Amino acid sequence: MRLTTAALAAALVSSCPLYALAAALQLPFTALSGGDNDGAKPARLAQQPGSTPPVDWPYRSLPWGDLNVLATTDTHGWLLGHQRNEPSYSGDWGDYYSFVQRMKEEARRRGVDLLLVDSGDRVDGNGLVDAEPSPHPKGYTALSIFSRVPYDVVTTGNHELYKFPVASYVSSVMHDKFGDRWVVSNVNITAQDEVTGREVERLLGNRMRRFTTEQGRKVVAFGPLFDFKAHAAGIAVQAPSAMVKEQWFQEAIASAPDVFLLVGHMSLRIEADSEWTAVVRAIREVHPTVPVLVFGGHHHIRDCVQEDEYSMSLASGRYFETVGFMSVAGLNDSSTPPVFKRRYIDQNRNSYEYHAGKGFDTDEGKAITQELAETARRFNLTDQFGVAPQDYFLHRFPHTDRRSIFHLLTTSVLPSLITRPDRPSPPYTVLNTGSIRFDLFKGPFTRGDQWQILPFANNFLFLRDVPRGLAERLLHHLNLVGEHGFAEASQTGREYTAEERAWLTQQGADVRAAADSAALEHAHRLRSLATTTPDGRWRMRRASEGYVTLDACGGDDPAEQFGDDTAHRPYRSARQPVFVATALPHKTEQVDVVFFDFIVIDVLRGLNALGGGHKAARRYRLDDVERYVEWVSANTLMEEYAKRAWN
Ligand SMILES: *[C@@H]1O[C@H](CO)[C@@H](O)[C@H](O)[C@H]1NC(C)=O
Ligand SMILES: *[C@@H]1O[C@H](CO)[C@@H](O)[C@H](O)[C@H]1NC(C)=O
Ligand SMILES: *[C@@H]1O[C@H](CO)[C@@H](O)[C@H](O)[C@H]1NC(C)=O
Ligand SMILES: [Zn+2]
Ligand SMILES: [Zn+2]
Repeated sequence: MRLTTAALAAALVSSCPLYALAAALQLPFTALSGGDNDGAKPARLAQQPGSTPPVDWPYRSLPWGDLNVLATTDTHGWLLGHQRNEPSYSGDWGDYYSFVQRMKEEARRRGVDLLLVDSGDRVDGNGLVDAEPSPHPKGYTALSIFSRVPYDVVTTGNHELYKFPVASYVSSVMHDKFGDRWVVSNVNITAQDEVTGREVERLLGNRMRRFTTEQGRKVVAFGPLFDFKAHAAGIAVQAPSAMVKEQWFQEAIASAPDVFLLVGHMSLRIEADSEWTAVVRAIREVHPTVPVLVFGGHHHIRDCVQEDEYSMSLASGRYFETVGFMSVAGLNDSSTPPVFKRRYIDQNRNSYEYHAGKGFDTDEGKAITQELAETARRFNLTDQFGVAPQDYFLHRFPHTDRRSIFHLLTTSVLPSLITRPDRPSPPYTVLNTGSIRFDLFKGPFTRGDQWQILPFANNFLFLRDVPRGLAERLLHHLNLVGEHGFAEASQTGREYTAEERAWLTQQGADVRAAADSAALEHAHRLRSLATTTPDGRWRMRRASEGYVTLDACGGDDPAEQFGDDTAHRPYRSARQPVFVATALPHKTEQVDVVFFDFIVIDVLRGLNALGGGHKAARRYRLDDVERYVEWVSANTLMEEYAKRAWN
């Protein structure tokens, strides 16, 4: 034992014996009291060039069971990981690939199963997937790299289905790469029959997959998408609650496998689009005690619920920040419910090393890392447009705070760029906050950052000469409707906003709940005192900011209260409006109202609702809408701003 470290620990937790600290941390006592701490080198370099190395470590082993699953969802093209400012998510797809290979080896050593699943949304949100240069279709390179990971079940998200060519291309790639492991239970696509030339409706993916694991367990898998309405023409989606009544589904569940595996793009508990309960109940009517493992997504949060004691449902976050882990033990004894456990692993090389061992990299993983770096260069994602003077956050501060990206946009970016010499300047620009997808960090601002923040190719439209009295009430109205329109979000095509809002609400609630609970605070304070490395080395430090997830799977066991694999202080979080706007121009009786094409219907309906009741008031129609500027759109806005303001 090293006297210095032991003394330090005793001093820091003077009222708290070391074994109590160990217990609070769920560490073996020896991990805190001993360990060969010689020559401890802290975090090693992240492998992706230019990535910030991770600082924190997990603090406990993964709870392996008979059947184990690693889960990703809503990766949205972030296969390079988070390269700047977010060391907790700085691993890349190559690191993950190596990790997966090592975990497979570990599973075989233990004589248990390890399955891999992904719940969709692989496009929209990162230049690596969205900035594919022609002549290749969007996602050509990124989907091929994604597909190296030997998933057992992959399904579609809604983002694959907004544009018909994207849907068509993605489904053909997934068919080619994954074959029967591409499972989409309730979506059809119209395609041209090669022989007859006629349009025919086909399944987007396999409705189900029936397979046997390496350890001989029988699995029946389904891939339901939530009842998504805002898809492209040529796509058909059936509500999961209707799907379970179909004859094919009833036949598929007729005989009992060892487990059911549901991998679907659907929130675990946002009522507007979660129908997991209906699917699990349909299975329960036939099989009251066959374990059901559910892997959801879409709302970009870490979350876990249990439909019943023979089931667990996990959501594994967003943007390749999180690798979800679920295990189920006690499968051989059907007389008692199995034991489910879950973890949310921070996606970085420390996590991988902690669980898979030092030197976990494999040749194939390293090759993927290199290919990703080369792709980023080939796509010009590393081109620098300017240097941001500070951080601008999406969710952490109120939109009026100088540290909010919405403050930057509404007070500087939009007023300076979105103007026209032939029109009164500046106009009144309304922005749906859901169109902004990520934080903007201090330092070099690159093409890659631009794609992360504003991935959509929306245009700026406008209505000319709107009476000031209407324009000044528009924002408030839109935010009210936004509140009430939430339940109908999928129908109105405003699904992005709903996604972001739900994420916000959930995240805000989590953090508030965490802050409210003295006991949890205490546990976290203790945890944040010590960080252990894989060798049982440890050091004292304050935990960094990160996810602190209060899900519904903690049960009564204090050790299982948090599924987060690494202890953090919770992120700050502030409620954001659904819409924000620039300042209303001074002293003009008429105002040009500018907005993205994505919200044209909202704006028209809003103005008409506000003008309604007055006979003389004109009704705004689509014909009144014009393009405001041609030279800049959503996905070049920040590039143009950075070139001018940050050089
Ligand atoms: C998809 O097509 C099949 C026939 O191939 C049909 O039975 C099913 O109802 C269709 N599903 C949807 C969502 O339209
Ligand atoms: C459980 O059953 C599986 C397959 O049926 C078998 O391979 C395994 O050895 C059993 N495990 C235990 C702990 O009995
Ligand atoms: C990247 O930049 C170079 C040099 O400006 C240009 O020739 C090339 O076409 C760009 N590639 C892409 C994919 O934009
Ligand atoms: Zn998503
Ligand atoms: Zn989604």
